[in-house]
Amino acid sequence: MCNCVSRLSTHRAVGAGKRGGSDSDTQQSTCGWRETRGNEEEEKGERERGECDKDGIFCHIVRPEDININMVQAKSWILTKLFDGVPKDSDFKLEVEELPEPKDGEVLLESVYLSVDPYMRAFCSFRMKEGDRMIGTQVSKVIQSKNPAFPVGIHVLSNFGWRTHAVSDGTGLTPIMPDWPQDVSLSLALGAIGMPGLTALYGIEEVLGLQEGETLLVNAAAGAVGLVVGQIAKIKGCKVVGSTGSDAKVAYLKELGFDEAFNYKTVASLDEALRKASPDGYDCLFENVGGYFSTVALQHMKNFGRIAVCGSISVYNDSTPQTGPYPHLTMIFKQLKMEGFMQGRWQHKHPESLKRLMAWFKEGKLQCREHITKGFEKMPAAFIGMLQGENIGKAIIAV
Ligand SMILES: NC(=O)c1ccc[n+]([C@@H]2O[C@H](COP(=O)([O-])OP(=O)(O)OC[C@H]3O[C@@H](n4cnc5c(N)ncnc54)[C@H](OP(=O)(O)O)[C@@H]3O)[C@@H](O)[C@H]2O)c1
Repeated sequence: MCNCVSRLSTHRAVGAGKRGGSDSDTQQSTCGWRETRGNEEEEKGERERGECDKDGIFCHIVRPEDININMVQAKSWILTKLFDGVPKDSDFKLEVEELPEPKDGEVLLESVYLSVDPYMRAFCSFRMKEGDRMIGTQVSKVIQSKNPAFPVGIHVLSNFGWRTHAVSDGTGLTPIMPDWPQDVSLSLALGAIGMPGLTALYGIEEVLGLQEGETLLVNAAAGAVGLVVGQIAKIKGCKVVGSTGSDAKVAYLKELGFDEAFNYKTVASLDEALRKASPDGYDCLFENVGGYFSTVALQHMKNFGRIAVCGSISVYNDSTPQTGPYPHLTMIFKQLKMEGFMQGRWQHKHPESLKRLMAWFKEGKLQCREHITKGFEKMPAAFIGMLQGENIGKAIIAV
């Protein structure tokens, strides 16, 4: 038998940076020869010569002693330059490091799905410095374990940033929701049945207290949070108006059951578009965009309207902070209530909330659209694309 097949398959997941990946990896070695020959004498000769051949194909045999089996090569995206305006490819660098075998109590994780989110742009300005690994959440698989709490093969959520592998003592690892159905992609744990879905749910229930029959306006409506906001509001029996940045997104929102949707980039007047979509005004605004949109939308709130300030993506790339008009007079005369929030405030409710989101998904009441980019190497492009509105639904990277 070809030596490189048997030896590498034995040491897959740890050998020379080869990723653990799927079980089928055991079938393939660096020489790509799968066949079992079974001739001991021939095999011995090949082993001594350090080579084998089949049908004229030459293969160099990788011996176990040639491989540092204790190392795995981990790729990371490093922030080389703090963002100035819109992030650029040249702000990132791909780095490779060798990770040691996990020690007692530790596990080796391999990323399966990674998330790119707007907060990464916003946080960069005050929580990161040049040379840091990009921050972020991922779904990873335990591929080696010396920690009984995290056996090989299970999937976890971790905040290990933009990297393919990590060694962890288990701190900060969250096992994926128990009873996650086999037929549901684990990528949704980063989207509608994960942080963005929870954000939508808490914004609606805890901050806005949205009631049946009310009218809700949501912007960035075709994104990860916005899509869930609109659908939950429909589940609750509300009228929903969505603002988004392309005609394809508008069409998708209508397909989902949004009562009104418009393309804020092409309407002649945002003021007119908001009036036309709901002449009586809005009880609730789920605010993802901020800036100019917010200024105009406030004029369309009903008296005693409520505003959940979830994000303000229209200002994240600003090098110089935007100034007024300021909202105070409008807020006073309309007696508005505006509250900023971060989903982590209701962490104690996450398990129950995830179950509710999953149930809506299984009942067909919640569509979980994703925008999947394949390849860890494409993370910066996926991130930049998401900030520019390329995504419908949750922007995900599949490794
Ligand atoms: N508070 C929290 O706990 C929390 C948690 C998660 C997310 N958030 C916030 O929620 C918002 C949505 O996040 P997400 O993860 O769901 O992202 P997302 O909506 O999936 O993606 C970002 C979207 O923002 C829109 N956008 C970009 N620049 C814009 C601009 N100048 N004006 C208007 N829209 C713009 C783009 O869609 P268009 O094509 O429509 O322009 C883009 O697709 C963000 O502000 C984020 O920071 C807050």
